[in-house]
Amino acid sequence: MDWFGVVVFSAVLAGAWSTQDLSFPPGFIFGAATASYQVEGAWNEGGKSENTWDRYVHEDPTRIKDLTNGDVACDSYHQWKRDIEMAEELGLQFYRFSLSWSRILPSGFPNIINEEGKNYYNNLIDGLLEKGIQPMVTIYHWDLPQSLQNLGGWANPLIVDWFVDYARVAYTLFGDRVKVWITINEPVVFCDGVYNSGRFAPLIYSPEVGAYLCNKYALLAHAKAWRLYDQEFKPKYHGKVSLANQMVWFEPYDSTEEHIELAELARQNSNGRYAHPIYSKAGGWPPSIEKVLEEVSLKRGYSKSSLPAFTQEEIELMRGTYDYFAMNYYTTRLIRKAREGEQFTAWPLGDCIDLNAIIEKREDWPTAESYWFYVFPEGFRRQLNWMKQQYGDMEIIITENGISTAGGLDDQERIQYYRDHLEQILLAVKEDGLNVTGYCAWTLMDNFEWGDGLAVKFGLYEVDFSDPMRKRTPRASARYYSDIISSHSLDI
Ligand code: NOJ
Repeated sequence: MDWFGVVVFSAVLAGAWSTQDLSFPPGFIFGAATASYQVEGAWNEGGKSENTWDRYVHEDPTRIKDLTNGDVACDSYHQWKRDIEMAEELGLQFYRFSLSWSRILPSGFPNIINEEGKNYYNNLIDGLLEKGIQPMVTIYHWDLPQSLQNLGGWANPLIVDWFVDYARVAYTLFGDRVKVWITINEPVVFCDGVYNSGRFAPLIYSPEVGAYLCNKYALLAHAKAWRLYDQEFKPKYHGKVSLANQMVWFEPYDSTEEHIELAELARQNSNGRYAHPIYSKAGGWPPSIEKVLEEVSLKRGYSKSSLPAFTQEEIELMRGTYDYFAMNYYTTRLIRKAREGEQFTAWPLGDCIDLNAIIEKREDWPTAESYWFYVFPEGFRRQLNWMKQQYGDMEIIITENGISTAGGLDDQERIQYYRDHLEQILLAVKEDGLNVTGYCAWTLMDNFEWGDGLAVKFGLYEVDFSDPMRKRTPRASARYYSDIISSHSLDI
């Protein structure tokens, strides 16, 4: 091709990838997600033992906003065939769900594998594959066996190996059919969210050290479980493994140096603390955070102990333990310095606890039904670009994205949210050159939304929680999403 040919050819290529073209790249896949405690129900059936969420909701029902719990939830333990049918109706290419640790290993340890639990997941996996839907499995989505919590849970260093033993069982039982794994879902929530606010299961308030210990052991647990797969299972099963991080975009309050720096510090604190040790070239804690926390802990008289240091060996153990980046994105927060006399409140995850900062929203950002949720789609693209800038080019799969509403079948707000956020992915891919290869809607159906109970709804399908069969009905957004999937484009 001569010079002119190259120019014309490149122009045609650029045109084909311009933002006018709303089609997704070939090979881009779509899915929807759920998690065990949020949908399964059957909390004390089929040989399952008690977990931290069972304990939390039963001990004091007022901990959940609408006084509900996950005892029955969507009853997916019994209604799994309907769940597969819905995935098929939507035309999903993959379905993301999580394993309940206490359903598979009732003691928490691998001494006894619960046959009924194993059969439940085998049926689900086989049923999906029969319909040509790939299972994407999360090994841990916040429901820790109570027996392990009694021994200290995520603040006990031994949990690293307890988790690896459990992961080994999961890979062994299901690895022949499950090719995409997530070890742990959103450690920022069960570490910062639990220990900094004391408002999540298990009920432990330890803002000075708890979150950081949990942070450290969750990352080491992930890293060891990734290495286990890489060495023993990948050679025969050829799958891929990652950790799902919730990435919140922090926008500076204004364009002053002070707020630009603060927003970056908040990103490093909330996102970097869970990503830097794994994805960065250097490994270890993000340097800026290490510095802040050393200062803070010294001020508190803690020496360096509130951000437990990693040994060089641990840094090496964690570094590079990913096959793709599993990213959950929902919201953006506006961040500013606390003013004289203003008190920092540990809201919503307490992930800015040591930054003396206040979280707000910009006036024109709509809110969702969840108390922590502001809508700013551009934040999604900015977040994706930040990841590339921080950690380099890598495959990214969006493992959760969606919006909460109060309910109703004609959910135009959800349609708008999906449209706007998928558009930001297209821009990130086509304009910024990011390698996003898949998208997973949260969530297949309304379910138990943790502290908000059953009242806050994220589902593509509405679930009738007063019906013993938990009847599921598609919302307008379900039709919209299935049209996007079948046309492989936003232009529908
Ligand atoms: C992320 C969590 O993984 C999921 O369990 C939760 O329901 C959604 N965010 C919405 O809050």
